[in-house]
Amino acid sequence: MTIGEIYELAIKMGVGADPRGEDGVKKVLKRLNSEYEERSPAKKKNFDLESLRNPYADSRILFGDPTIAVDKVAVGIDIEPAELLLVDRLNQKGEGIDLAIAHHPEGISLAGLPEVMELQIDLLAGYGVPVNVVEGLMGDKITEIKRRVSPGNHARAVDAARLLGIPFMNIHTPADNLVFHYLEERIAQTRPEYVKDVLEMLEEIPEYNEAAKFKLGPTLFTGAEKNRAGKVVAASLTGGTEGSKNIYERLVAAGVGTVIGMHASEEHVKKAKEHHLNLVIAGHMSSDSVGMNLLLDELEKQGIQIIPFSGFIRISRIKSEK
Ligand SMILES: [Fe+2]
Ligand SMILES: [Fe+2]
Repeated sequence: MTIGEIYELAIKMGVGADPRGEDGVKKVLKRLNSEYEERSPAKKKNFDLESLRNPYADSRILFGDPTIAVDKVAVGIDIEPAELLLVDRLNQKGEGIDLAIAHHPEGISLAGLPEVMELQIDLLAGYGVPVNVVEGLMGDKITEIKRRVSPGNHARAVDAARLLGIPFMNIHTPADNLVFHYLEERIAQTRPEYVKDVLEMLEEIPEYNEAAKFKLGPTLFTGAEKNRAGKVVAASLTGGTEGSKNIYERLVAAGVGTVIGMHASEEHVKKAKEHHLNLVIAGHMSSDSVGMNLLLDELEKQGIQIIPFSGFIRISRIKSEK
Protein backbone atom coordinates (compact mmCIF):
# COMPACT_ATOMS: atom_id res chain seq x y z
CA MET A 1 0.00 0.00 0.00
CA THR A 2 1.08 3.55 -0.64
CA ILE A 3 0.76 6.48 1.77
CA GLY A 4 -2.08 7.80 -0.40
CA GLU A 5 -3.91 4.47 -0.30
CA ILE A 6 -3.65 4.32 3.50
CA TYR A 7 -5.07 7.83 3.72
CA GLU A 8 -7.96 7.03 1.33
CA LEU A 9 -8.77 3.83 3.23
CA ALA A 10 -8.86 5.73 6.53
CA ILE A 11 -11.33 8.26 5.12
CA LYS A 12 -13.48 5.51 3.60
CA MET A 13 -13.61 3.54 6.85
CA GLY A 14 -14.30 6.75 8.80
CA VAL A 15 -17.27 7.52 6.56
CA GLY A 16 -18.52 3.93 6.90
CA ALA A 17 -18.63 4.31 10.70
CA ASP A 18 -19.74 7.96 10.77
CA PRO A 19 -22.67 8.73 13.10
CA ARG A 20 -24.15 10.91 10.31
CA GLY A 21 -24.28 7.93 7.95
CA GLU A 22 -22.80 7.95 4.43
CA ASP A 23 -25.64 10.07 3.09
CA GLY A 24 -25.21 12.58 5.90
CA VAL A 25 -21.50 12.92 5.08
CA LYS A 26 -22.29 13.35 1.36
CA LYS A 27 -24.71 16.15 2.25
CA VAL A 28 -22.02 17.96 4.24
CA LEU A 29 -19.54 17.69 1.35
CA LYS A 30 -22.14 18.90 -1.13
CA ARG A 31 -22.88 21.94 1.03
CA LEU A 32 -19.16 22.71 1.36
CA ASN A 33 -18.67 22.41 -2.41
CA SER A 34 -21.47 24.84 -3.18
CA GLU A 35 -20.17 27.27 -0.54
CA TYR A 36 -16.78 27.08 -2.24
CA GLU A 37 -18.25 27.77 -5.70
CA GLU A 38 -19.92 30.89 -4.35
CA ARG A 39 -16.63 32.30 -3.09
CA SER A 40 -14.90 35.18 -4.88
CA PRO A 41 -11.64 34.30 -6.70
CA ALA A 42 -9.71 36.09 -3.95
CA LYS A 43 -11.40 33.98 -1.26
CA LYS A 44 -10.86 30.77 -3.24
CA LYS A 45 -7.10 31.38 -3.31
CA ASN A 46 -6.08 29.94 0.05
CA PHE A 47 -9.00 27.60 0.46
CA ASP A 48 -8.19 24.10 1.71
CA LEU A 49 -9.33 22.17 -1.39
CA GLU A 50 -8.83 18.83 0.32
CA SER A 51 -11.78 19.64 2.59
CA LEU A 52 -14.07 19.45 -0.46
CA ARG A 53 -13.53 15.68 -0.66
CA ASN A 54 -12.23 14.62 2.76
CA PRO A 55 -14.93 15.35 5.36
CA TYR A 56 -12.37 15.13 8.20
CA ALA A 57 -10.41 18.38 8.46
CA ASP A 58 -8.45 16.91 11.38
CA SER A 59 -6.91 14.03 9.37
CA ARG A 60 -4.33 14.60 6.66
CA ILE A 61 -1.07 13.56 5.04
CA LEU A 62 1.11 16.16 6.74
CA PHE A 63 4.38 15.47 4.95
CA GLY A 64 5.52 13.05 2.27
CA ASP A 65 4.80 11.89 -1.27
CA PRO A 66 1.49 9.95 -1.37
CA THR A 67 2.90 7.54 -3.96
CA ILE A 68 5.55 6.15 -1.57
CA ALA A 69 5.01 2.43 -0.85
CA VAL A 70 4.79 1.49 2.82
CA ASP A 71 6.04 -1.72 4.43
CA LYS A 72 6.47 -0.55 8.00
CA VAL A 73 4.66 2.15 10.00
CA ALA A 74 5.30 3.61 13.43
CA VAL A 75 1.94 4.46 15.04
CA GLY A 76 1.54 6.73 18.06
CA ILE A 77 -1.30 8.58 19.73
CA ASP A 78 0.75 11.80 19.84
CA ILE A 79 3.65 12.34 17.49
CA GLU A 80 5.77 15.38 18.24
CA PRO A 81 9.40 16.16 17.29
CA ALA A 82 10.61 13.83 20.08
CA GLU A 83 8.77 10.85 18.56
CA LEU A 84 9.98 11.73 15.07
CA LEU A 85 13.56 11.81 16.35
CA LEU A 86 12.91 8.38 17.85
CA VAL A 87 11.72 7.12 14.45
CA ASP A 88 14.84 8.58 12.86
CA ARG A 89 17.02 6.89 15.49
CA LEU A 90 15.30 3.55 14.91
CA ASN A 91 15.82 3.94 11.17
CA GLN A 92 19.51 4.65 11.77
CA LYS A 93 19.59 1.30 13.54
CA GLY A 94 18.12 -0.25 10.41
CA GLU A 95 14.44 -0.46 11.37
CA GLY A 96 13.19 0.81 7.99
CA ILE A 97 10.07 2.75 9.06
CA ASP A 98 8.44 4.27 5.97
CA LEU A 99 5.74 6.34 7.63
CA ALA A 100 4.76 7.77 11.01
CA ILE A 101 1.01 7.82 11.76
CA ALA A 102 -0.26 9.88 14.68
CA HIS A 103 -3.80 9.84 16.00
CA HIS A 104 -4.02 13.35 17.44
CA PRO A 105 -3.88 16.19 14.92
CA GLU A 106 -0.79 18.22 14.07
CA GLY A 107 -0.23 20.99 11.52
CA ILE A 108 -3.22 21.79 9.30
CA SER A 109 -5.18 18.97 10.95
CA LEU A 110 -4.91 20.70 14.31
CA ALA A 111 -6.15 23.97 12.83
CA GLY A 112 -9.01 21.98 11.27
CA LEU A 113 -10.06 20.31 14.53
CA PRO A 114 -12.99 22.68 15.28
CA GLU A 115 -14.50 21.88 11.85
CA VAL A 116 -15.07 18.20 12.63
CA MET A 117 -17.01 19.10 15.78
CA GLU A 118 -20.01 19.76 13.52
CA LEU A 119 -20.38 15.97 13.48
CA GLN A 120 -21.55 16.11 17.10
CA ILE A 121 -24.65 18.06 16.08
CA ASP A 122 -26.09 15.12 14.13
CA LEU A 123 -24.72 12.60 16.60
CA LEU A 124 -26.47 14.18 19.59
CA ALA A 125 -29.64 15.01 17.68
CA GLY A 126 -29.73 11.30 16.83
CA TYR A 127 -30.26 10.54 20.53
CA GLY A 128 -33.38 12.69 20.59
CA VAL A 129 -32.09 16.13 21.65
CA PRO A 130 -33.79 18.77 19.46
CA VAL A 131 -31.34 19.74 16.72
CA ASN A 132 -31.81 23.47 17.33
CA VAL A 133 -30.71 23.01 20.96
CA VAL A 134 -27.63 20.99 19.94
CA GLU A 135 -26.75 23.54 17.26
CA GLY A 136 -26.97 26.36 19.78
CA LEU A 137 -24.84 24.57 22.36
CA MET A 138 -22.27 23.26 19.87
CA GLY A 139 -21.96 26.57 18.02
CA ASP A 140 -20.60 28.26 21.15
CA LYS A 141 -18.32 25.32 21.91
CA ILE A 142 -16.87 25.21 18.37
CA THR A 143 -16.05 28.93 18.57
CA GLU A 144 -14.39 28.34 21.95
CA ILE A 145 -12.25 25.50 20.54
CA LYS A 146 -11.29 27.65 17.53
CA ARG A 147 -9.96 30.28 19.94
CA ARG A 148 -8.23 27.62 22.02
CA VAL A 149 -6.33 25.98 19.14
CA SER A 150 -5.43 29.21 17.33
CA PRO A 151 -2.32 30.26 19.32
CA GLY A 152 -0.62 26.85 19.10
CA ASN A 153 2.62 26.03 17.31
CA HIS A 154 0.88 23.95 14.66
CA ALA A 155 3.83 23.44 12.31
CA ARG A 156 6.32 22.23 14.92
CA ALA A 157 6.02 18.46 14.41
CA VAL A 158 5.44 18.75 10.65
CA ASP A 159 8.62 20.84 10.35
CA ALA A 160 10.55 18.15 12.21
CA ALA A 161 9.18 15.45 9.86
CA ARG A 162 10.20 17.52 6.84
CA LEU A 163 13.74 18.12 8.11
CA LEU A 164 14.20 14.45 9.01
CA GLY A 165 12.57 13.32 5.76
CA ILE A 166 10.01 11.12 7.54
CA PRO A 167 6.61 10.83 5.84
CA PHE A 168 3.99 11.81 8.40
CA MET A 169 0.21 11.65 8.59
CA ASN A 170 -2.46 11.76 11.25
CA ILE A 171 -5.82 10.02 11.40
CA HIS A 172 -8.13 11.45 14.02
CA THR A 173 -11.91 11.49 13.51
CA PRO A 174 -12.04 8.47 11.15
CA ALA A 175 -10.48 6.38 13.96
CA ASP A 176 -12.74 7.93 16.61
CA ASN A 177 -15.74 7.10 14.41
CA LEU A 178 -14.54 3.49 14.35
CA VAL A 179 -14.39 3.20 18.15
CA PHE A 180 -17.75 4.99 18.46
CA HIS A 181 -19.36 2.55 16.03
CA TYR A 182 -17.69 -0.44 17.67
CA LEU A 183 -18.99 0.51 21.12
CA GLU A 184 -22.50 1.35 19.88
CA GLU A 185 -22.62 -2.15 18.36
CA ARG A 186 -21.39 -3.69 21.60
CA ILE A 187 -24.08 -1.83 23.56
CA ALA A 188 -26.75 -3.10 21.14
CA GLN A 189 -25.43 -6.68 21.41
CA THR A 190 -24.91 -6.89 25.17
CA ARG A 191 -27.75 -4.56 26.32
CA PRO A 192 -26.19 -3.73 29.70
CA GLU A 193 -28.86 -3.50 32.40
CA TYR A 194 -26.87 -2.00 35.24
CA VAL A 195 -23.98 0.47 35.22
CA LYS A 196 -21.79 -2.37 36.48
CA ASP A 197 -22.64 -4.26 33.27
CA VAL A 198 -21.49 -1.28 31.17
CA LEU A 199 -18.13 -1.36 32.92
CA GLU A 200 -17.88 -5.13 32.47
CA MET A 201 -18.75 -4.83 28.78
CA LEU A 202 -15.86 -2.39 28.34
CA GLU A 203 -13.41 -4.41 30.45
CA GLU A 204 -13.85 -7.35 28.08
CA ILE A 205 -12.37 -5.30 25.24
CA PRO A 206 -8.61 -6.04 25.15
CA GLU A 207 -7.38 -2.43 24.90
CA TYR A 208 -9.34 -1.50 28.06
CA ASN A 209 -8.19 -4.67 29.76
CA GLU A 210 -4.60 -3.73 28.93
CA ALA A 211 -5.13 -0.18 30.25
CA ALA A 212 -6.64 -1.61 33.46
CA LYS A 213 -3.30 -3.33 34.18
CA PHE A 214 -1.82 0.18 34.40
CA LYS A 215 -4.61 1.49 36.64
CA LEU A 216 -6.25 3.26 33.71
CA GLY A 217 -9.17 0.98 33.00
CA PRO A 218 -12.79 2.08 32.47
CA THR A 219 -13.92 4.19 35.43
CA LEU A 220 -17.25 5.41 36.68
CA PHE A 221 -17.00 9.20 37.09
CA THR A 222 -20.58 9.86 38.22
CA GLY A 223 -23.47 7.61 39.29
CA ALA A 224 -23.17 4.22 40.97
CA GLU A 225 -22.34 0.73 39.72
CA LYS A 226 -25.56 -0.64 41.24
CA ASN A 227 -27.67 1.92 39.31
CA ARG A 228 -29.82 0.90 36.39
CA ALA A 229 -27.98 1.95 33.25
CA GLY A 230 -31.11 3.10 31.39
CA LYS A 231 -30.43 4.02 27.79
CA VAL A 232 -26.67 3.71 27.19
CA VAL A 233 -24.99 5.83 24.51
CA ALA A 234 -21.38 6.23 23.35
CA ALA A 235 -21.98 9.96 22.99
CA SER A 236 -18.56 11.32 23.93
CA LEU A 237 -16.14 9.39 21.74
CA THR A 238 -16.00 11.15 18.39
CA GLY A 239 -16.37 14.60 16.85
CA GLY A 240 -13.03 16.28 17.52
CA THR A 241 -13.00 16.99 21.22
CA GLU A 242 -15.24 17.35 24.25
CA GLY A 243 -18.52 19.11 23.43
CA SER A 244 -20.70 21.40 25.54
CA LYS A 245 -21.08 20.58 29.23
CA ASN A 246 -24.72 21.65 28.99
CA ILE A 247 -25.57 18.75 26.70
CA TYR A 248 -25.90 16.27 29.59
CA GLU A 249 -29.06 17.94 30.88
CA ARG A 250 -30.55 17.64 27.41
CA LEU A 251 -29.48 14.04 26.91
CA VAL A 252 -31.09 13.08 30.21
CA ALA A 253 -34.30 14.87 29.17
CA ALA A 254 -34.16 12.88 25.90
CA GLY A 255 -34.12 9.63 27.89
CA VAL A 256 -30.41 8.82 28.21
CA GLY A 257 -29.27 7.18 31.46
CA THR A 258 -25.61 6.41 30.85
CA VAL A 259 -23.00 8.11 28.66
CA ILE A 260 -19.74 6.44 27.67
CA GLY A 261 -16.92 8.88 26.99
CA MET A 262 -13.16 8.88 26.43
CA HIS A 263 -12.36 11.58 28.96
CA ALA A 264 -14.22 14.34 30.83
CA SER A 265 -13.20 17.65 32.34
CA GLU A 266 -14.23 18.60 35.87
CA GLU A 267 -16.97 20.97 34.73
CA HIS A 268 -18.50 18.18 32.61
CA VAL A 269 -18.38 15.80 35.57
CA LYS A 270 -20.15 18.38 37.76
CA LYS A 271 -22.95 18.76 35.20
CA ALA A 272 -23.33 15.00 34.74
CA LYS A 273 -23.69 14.56 38.50
CA GLU A 274 -26.18 17.41 38.79
CA HIS A 275 -28.43 15.72 36.22
CA HIS A 276 -28.14 12.19 37.66
CA LEU A 277 -26.35 10.85 34.63
CA ASN A 278 -24.10 7.80 34.92
CA LEU A 279 -20.89 8.88 33.26
CA VAL A 280 -18.58 6.01 32.34
CA ILE A 281 -15.13 7.09 31.23
CA ALA A 282 -13.71 4.32 29.10
CA GLY A 283 -10.20 5.79 28.98
CA HIS A 284 -8.42 8.11 26.59
CA MET A 285 -5.35 6.35 25.17
CA SER A 286 -7.19 3.02 25.29
CA SER A 287 -10.25 4.31 23.37
CA ASP A 288 -8.04 6.06 20.81
CA SER A 289 -6.15 2.77 20.46
CA VAL A 290 -9.35 0.79 19.73
CA GLY A 291 -10.18 3.15 16.86
CA MET A 292 -6.67 3.06 15.42
CA ASN A 293 -6.50 -0.74 15.75
CA LEU A 294 -9.68 -1.25 13.74
CA LEU A 295 -8.06 0.71 10.90
CA LEU A 296 -4.59 -0.80 11.29
CA ASP A 297 -5.92 -4.36 11.04
CA GLU A 298 -6.70 -3.55 7.41
CA LEU A 299 -3.10 -2.42 6.90
CA GLU A 300 -1.78 -5.56 8.58
CA LYS A 301 -3.89 -7.67 6.23
CA GLN A 302 -1.99 -5.98 3.38
CA GLY A 303 1.30 -7.08 4.92
CA ILE A 304 2.24 -3.80 6.59
CA GLN A 305 4.22 -4.14 9.81
CA ILE A 306 3.11 -1.93 12.71
CA ILE A 307 5.38 -0.53 15.41
CA PRO A 308 3.31 0.91 18.29
CA PHE A 309 4.65 3.75 20.41
CA SER A 310 3.64 6.98 22.17
CA GLY A 311 0.83 5.48 24.25
CA PHE A 312 -0.72 3.45 21.46
CA ILE A 313 -1.83 -0.05 22.56
CA ARG A 314 -1.66 -2.29 19.50
CA ILE A 315 -4.15 -5.19 19.53
CA SER A 316 -4.76 -7.11 16.32
CA ARG A 317 -8.23 -8.55 15.82
CA ILE A 318 -7.25 -10.41 12.66
CA LYS A 319 -6.68 -13.80 14.28
CA SER A 320 -9.79 -13.67 16.44
CA GLU A 321 -11.91 -12.95 13.34
CA LYS A 322 -10.86 -16.22 11.70
FE1 LIG B 1 -9.46 10.16 19.58
FE1 LIG C 1 -7.69 11.50 21.87
